[in-house]
Amino acid sequence: MNFPLSRRSFATSLGVGASLLPIACTAPGKSVIGTSKSPQAPAASNPLIKQRADTQIFRHDDGWYYAMGSVPEYDRLALRRSKTLAGLTDAEERVLWRHEASGPMSGFLWAPELHYVDGKWIVYFAASPSGGGEDVFRIRTFAVVCDGPDPMTGNWSVLGEFKAPWDSFNLDSTIFTHRGVRYFSWAQREPGIETNSNVYIAPMKDALTLASAPARLTVPTLDWEVRGFKVNEGSAFLNRNGRLFMTYSASATDARYCMGLLSVDETANIMDPRNWVKSPRPVFETCRETSVYGPGHNSFTVDEEGRDILVYHGRDYEKIEGDPLFNPDRHTRIQRIYYDADGVPDFGVPVGNGAIPERFIPAVRRTVRMACDGMTLSVSDAPLPQTQFRSIEAGEGTVQLVPILRPELCLAAGPDGAVRLAPRDVVSDVAAEDRFRREVGPATGTVRFASVAYEGRALAHSGDRVVLADDYDASVAWLAD
Ligand code: AHR
Repeated sequence: MNFPLSRRSFATSLGVGASLLPIACTAPGKSVIGTSKSPQAPAASNPLIKQRADTQIFRHDDGWYYAMGSVPEYDRLALRRSKTLAGLTDAEERVLWRHEASGPMSGFLWAPELHYVDGKWIVYFAASPSGGGEDVFRIRTFAVVCDGPDPMTGNWSVLGEFKAPWDSFNLDSTIFTHRGVRYFSWAQREPGIETNSNVYIAPMKDALTLASAPARLTVPTLDWEVRGFKVNEGSAFLNRNGRLFMTYSASATDARYCMGLLSVDETANIMDPRNWVKSPRPVFETCRETSVYGPGHNSFTVDEEGRDILVYHGRDYEKIEGDPLFNPDRHTRIQRIYYDADGVPDFGVPVGNGAIPERFIPAVRRTVRMACDGMTLSVSDAPLPQTQFRSIEAGEGTVQLVPILRPELCLAAGPDGAVRLAPRDVVSDVAAEDRFRREVGPATGTVRFASVAYEGRALAHSGDRVVLADDYDASVAWLAD
């Protein structure tokens, strides 16, 4: 499709708006370059799914991971599934429904999500007419429904249009359940508010009808929310540690796109906007060190071990020719979610292409972690991004340990037992000081990194330093998280 209008310039002009090689469990001391920690689950790698944006991934109680997102052509609703996250990369995709030849669902199809509502599989999505000109961004929310129990084999047909509170630009719908009540959340241009879109929630009466007037949870007003366009959209919900968190995305869909966070006590009235607290700063944004630009429109799932996973899209380059909305390279990406001392999710930075990184925590001192700050290697309570490392295969069953913020560096051992960060391409191959064998560690659930260069020695924690120690010493046991 070649449309002269950007959906947001149009809306504004009309006043309409705006691995890692985690180890398999084996006999202690065995060097294993395995797949994920769950022996049956291969290690996922970013980008997880090329050219799929706004991606929803969830693990259904049938054991399948389902994934849907916007395709670059915006012309079809495509679903894929896999028994593992890694399997989604190459999983066969089924086209459930294509835009129509004419009418309100014949143009763009944006941000589809699959939900199981009252015993039916339903896909919600934003759609527009195809007439070109000013009508092409008359975006509204619709749903199609499956006639059978398997969304990959059933027949899909139009269910209808979401009955929005206003007849205006609306998109990015999702469904969540909180304390037994099913809610609809979406982004919409509200008459009388000069933004492209704000985020709303409301309880649902049925698949397309709200049970009450909406609560307006966030309006783009902060500087990082109004870069290029005044946008709050792409809401997603996570109930953890006694709070309900809502992430959303803001600004133009180029490198300025980023994520915000609201939170509310899980026992509060979530329909009262005054109960929600909004982060004054973005919680996830472009990271040049890891080469991920414009991360956003996220969803949440869990990995094969039940650990929280952030799903989002992002490009691996910054400069875009033309309208970002028609650039195809917003790829689906995933990474672990960690939590701070107050139980609030810490998304850190987008971790970049390659295996999903880990943190390495001394088994004998769990308040600190291996960390890289510039050229300084330490064991400390450093910020999350400094503590994320990839163990990258280095041949003959060995790995290099590479910090995500300095991917040109790796750990290197010295004859004196010191361990440093060194450029990956110049560390002496002869001494193999940069290579380690990842082994089952000396304590339950731990790993050990045995030095290739210095037999009988392994990476160890000593005070605030990483050093080499005898490979039976308790200090060589690391928890990989
Ligand atoms: O990717 C198409 C639309 O652009 C999505 O619905 C929205 O979240 C994004 O900004």
